[in-house]
Amino acid sequence: MDIKSFLGGISPEEFLKEYWCKKPLLIKGAVKNTESFLSVDNMRELAVEESVESRMVLPTSGDKKWLCEDGPFKENDFKIQEKKQGTLICHGVNLYGPLMADLEKLSRFIPNWQFDDIMVTHSYPGEGVGAHIDSYNVFILQGHGKKQWLLEEDPNDTYQEDIAIKILKEFNPNIDWTLEPGDMVYIPPHVAHHGVALTEGMSYSIGFRAFKLEDMFSGYFQHHLESTEEMQDCYNDLNLQKSERPFFINDNDLDKMTRVFEEHLFNKTKMENWMGAYMTEPRQVPEKNDDLTFEEFVEEFKEGRPLFQDDHTRFVAMKEKFFINGVCFDVEEDMIEHFELAFSAMKMEDMPFKRKVMSIKSLMNLHKAYELGAIFFAE
Ligand SMILES: [Fe+2]
Repeated sequence: MDIKSFLGGISPEEFLKEYWCKKPLLIKGAVKNTESFLSVDNMRELAVEESVESRMVLPTSGDKKWLCEDGPFKENDFKIQEKKQGTLICHGVNLYGPLMADLEKLSRFIPNWQFDDIMVTHSYPGEGVGAHIDSYNVFILQGHGKKQWLLEEDPNDTYQEDIAIKILKEFNPNIDWTLEPGDMVYIPPHVAHHGVALTEGMSYSIGFRAFKLEDMFSGYFQHHLESTEEMQDCYNDLNLQKSERPFFINDNDLDKMTRVFEEHLFNKTKMENWMGAYMTEPRQVPEKNDDLTFEEFVEEFKEGRPLFQDDHTRFVAMKEKFFINGVCFDVEEDMIEHFELAFSAMKMEDMPFKRKVMSIKSLMNLHKAYELGAIFFAE
């Protein structure tokens, strides 16, 4: 797998400038050997797991036209999927196997804090989940089989009522692409799309997170209201001017109030603390772990016991800060890149720390990450 063929011969810079969040792109032969990524049986083994987010969409003859069920599933459900020629979907497959992890790595020309997961879809001929609009960016790679993608770049976003899944009322596609194994389509947010399986087949959606402004703003305020003592202070105007019009807020008042907000809320340090924490909040918070004291942890670590990350661990590095699962770690500046490298290893890999050169502070940080459940020793 290489980034050049992944983007159809154009550079990541050109892709971001011309296509990202702007227009769809068809990439023929983006990734090789996609037919051997996951078998239908592999996927079904995942769909019976409690820890895997899965769902099935089935056509029905009733009023609702579609039936949408959440996993985990039982063997018998797959017979129903086959009989009704429905669609099975599993999320988070980037965590299952090195090929999936390699696929995730290809997307790292986009900041990883924007990456969501890889979802796999298995459909029977004629099936799809209907024409709809997503608010996120996605690359959809064809595994095995053929799929037709119909896209409308300027859609009307009104949905049909009273059906189990979101399907557009009107859909007038201006793009019609057929994907064969290894072909990929990039779909930006707000472009309506409808994928129809032409044969039995599988596709992999490399999806990115959509950050709703409403959620970010409320998260930002909540973060600072909870963590800042100065929020108990009151507004004091030390330079109050004599009022000429007592019922009028003038420009000067507005400027002063704006400065209070800038000083206490909208500065870069506050943005750093919030952004690092918010962008690393895990999908599932791991269980805390207090099995090993700091001394015991260090002993195991120095003896070389393999150390892994929890599947849902998220992290980002930022100047002198390092965030893991929403928590800020004070890591020495010369160790930041070392931590970054170790945490960016694949989830199923022993984290490549240079164990002999770790300072006490770094070891304390690792123990803190261990207590959070973000990292753990192999059994
Ligand atoms: Fe979609």
